[in-house]
Amino acid sequence: IFEEAGAGAARVAGEIAGLVRTKAQKGEQAVLGLATGSSPIGVYQELIRLHREEGLSFANVVTFNLDEYYPMPPDELQSYVYFMHAQLFDHVDIRPENIHIPDGTLPVEQVREYCLAYDKQIEAAGGLDLQLLGIGRTGHIGFNEPGSSIQSATRLVKLDPLTITDAAKDFIKEEYVPLRALTMGVGTIMKARQIVLLAWGEGKAKILRETVEGQISEQVPASFLQQHPRVQVVVDQWAALELT
Ligand code: F6R
Repeated sequence: IFEEAGAGAARVAGEIAGLVRTKAQKGEQAVLGLATGSSPIGVYQELIRLHREEGLSFANVVTFNLDEYYPMPPDELQSYVYFMHAQLFDHVDIRPENIHIPDGTLPVEQVREYCLAYDKQIEAAGGLDLQLLGIGRTGHIGFNEPGSSIQSATRLVKLDPLTITDAAKDFIKEEYVPLRALTMGVGTIMKARQIVLLAWGEGKAKILRETVEGQISEQVPASFLQQHPRVQVVVDQWAALELT
């Protein structure tokens, strides 16, 4: 628990930088699972600073993003492709071919096969060394909404009405928010060797308590993280308000 989000974000960025440097020294790639939304922005800003000022290179980094709206063209302002380039990728030396973000432009009949291939690509890259997560007020991680099973794989899902309400701020009107998304599954996320969940602000306090201290249940998909051997929950004092 950090007093302010900035300090927590800096700690997480430092941990990611350490992982990337250790892997580079061994001549290996660091495989990072990345999130979008407001929660990781501070982490990405600090990673950019470390790149500019402290020589942190992303040349050996491979990334897999958690999710993308469906349908969603990559050049739309609301796309997660646009977000990731604006918030991180355009400011560091990552190789374009090492970036993976679910493709929101696929015809629906190709989605199933594409999602299977996405999980296989993660495995072929050696598996996720570290998965960064935010949490939605529904208890979603990625876009695994209530009802998602612990074994779920990357797939096309329907967004929960509360998630659509929360996304409306990015789409001007609630009616413009896509009803569906492609997301890594809970099972995909649980295979990561290390997981870091970020939550900032009082709006996350209730769901954070249910996630960390509540029953493990499909109704709060983030609660499955209680069963992961190496997970850190990094929060500010406001998100921690309801923890006992
Ligand atoms: C984003 C994602 C979502 C968000 C969550 C929290 O890639 O997978 O699970 O992490 O909706 O969003 P923010 O951080 O905007 O509160």
